[in-house]
Amino acid sequence: MSIAITINEEEFTAEQGQTVMELAQQHDIYIPHFCWHPGLSIAGVCRFCMVEVEGRPKLEIACNLPVTAGMQVRTDSEPVQEAHKWALEFHLINHPLDCPICDQAGECGLQDYYMQVGKYQAQMTQAKVLKPKKLDVGVDLVLDTERCILCSRCVRFEDEVTKSGGLGIFDRGDRAIIGTYQNKRIEHNYTTNLVDICPVGAFTSKDFRFKKRVWFTQEAQTVCPGCATGCAIDLAFNADLKRYYRIKPRFSEVNAHWMCNFGRGMYMHLNVEQRLLSAYSAAEDAHKPMLKTDTAHIVQALAEQLQQAQQVALLVTPQYTVEDYRALLAFFVGKLGIRNVHQWRSRQEDTEKFDGVLWRGDQNPNSRGLLEVLAEFGIDKQQGNEFDTLAAGNYDLVIALAPQVLATFADIETDLQKLQELPWVSLWASAKQVLDYRYQQVLALTCFAEQRGTYRNYAGVERQLHAATSPVSAEIMSITALVEKLAACCKAQEDEHGSS
Ligand code: SF4
Ligand code: SF4
Ligand code: FES
Repeated sequence: MSIAITINEEEFTAEQGQTVMELAQQHDIYIPHFCWHPGLSIAGVCRFCMVEVEGRPKLEIACNLPVTAGMQVRTDSEPVQEAHKWALEFHLINHPLDCPICDQAGECGLQDYYMQVGKYQAQMTQAKVLKPKKLDVGVDLVLDTERCILCSRCVRFEDEVTKSGGLGIFDRGDRAIIGTYQNKRIEHNYTTNLVDICPVGAFTSKDFRFKKRVWFTQEAQTVCPGCATGCAIDLAFNADLKRYYRIKPRFSEVNAHWMCNFGRGMYMHLNVEQRLLSAYSAAEDAHKPMLKTDTAHIVQALAEQLQQAQQVALLVTPQYTVEDYRALLAFFVGKLGIRNVHQWRSRQEDTEKFDGVLWRGDQNPNSRGLLEVLAEFGIDKQQGNEFDTLAAGNYDLVIALAPQVLATFADIETDLQKLQELPWVSLWASAKQVLDYRYQQVLALTCFAEQRGTYRNYAGVERQLHAATSPVSAEIMSITALVEKLAACCKAQEDEHGSS
């Protein structure tokens, strides 16, 4: 049932059971808060979200205030602002003033709210209670208990989302302290969400701490390529340095507010030290390292090889976009009539595995997308690893798309080794690790952060990728761009042969 209420004299329609905080959030009306989080139960402990309701004697907390018909709410009156000032003053009684060295600066609720509604003339003069700092409490977690404002978000996350119950608030009064249970650490695949939801700098990430001030980073809204769930993410990078720093979850129907730790690492392979930055071709002595070569030259050589080869096959990992598969198959299957397309997947994966929260054993972001595009070109397949079938085939040219995230292929070294034993391989890859092997040629591909496109997750939901920056090297290209180049080369060769 719909209910009419006013907030700051503007009328809104709310749903029965909604809280004033939810309605305000829905309409971008700002009510400061610490303990409320849309993905957790209501605790009502920070007393920071005070609002005034016409006809009620006291201010009330918006996060636990259900809407009622005709309710008139004010979020900006003088008593409300005064309440915010005092709530902040209390929160800061024992909070250290270490903003200049705190990793949360730039995205700290406490700091930001103080700038807006702080008292500035603090009246608390007592010495602060000192609590333990810099505790290593679990996977990717450092805990600084004296920065904690006891909002209990982290405790509720452990109880309600991962159901691991790893945290508690111990003792009472000014000695109350956040912490783990005796001799226990927080060791699951979702720990870094605690860093995200902590509104202050009490929890920090071992991986991100002191690496980059957040105001020197930008964020791209894209999708995690770490498994078939396809969580929505914000990828932090610095466009001038072309450097990636961290990944945080972004709300979507697929992942709500969370993501797993494994997915957090999906920025590491994007940085220049890990990347294949240009094309390479085999040295004359096949045992010597491959030689850096101009991309145009390599594409030309591939076009020539395509003319000569009798048996050609494609080996495709499910880690690229639907658009790239369409471009690839339109040329190889549609134009050249090559129908030997094999899936390349990890030998050790258990695609049925699901951890009950988000993470799936299918560690490819686009398994469904690949099968669907193959079907569009009349190639009907079930999900499965066909590497060995390809290796046993009699192909005199194999074009192989290596996985973007080598870490998701537990047996990648075996496969790359086997691949180099085939007669003629054009390997398209983004990780420089492939240069440890010897192929006839290697072409450098873009990564998920450098392109737009679509994945289809395990349930068939479309997940849209958005580019963060241009590729880390000018020699790097998307599959679509490479296929276009190759098609142009083949056409030029055909024209040449036709006219001679
Ligand atoms: S550690 Fe952070 S999230 Fe946990 S209670 Fe303290 S302030 Fe809240
Ligand atoms: S659950 Fe999968 S898609 Fe989501 S963050 Fe983890 S690895 Fe990435
Ligand atoms: S946000 Fe409402 S009491 Fe904390």
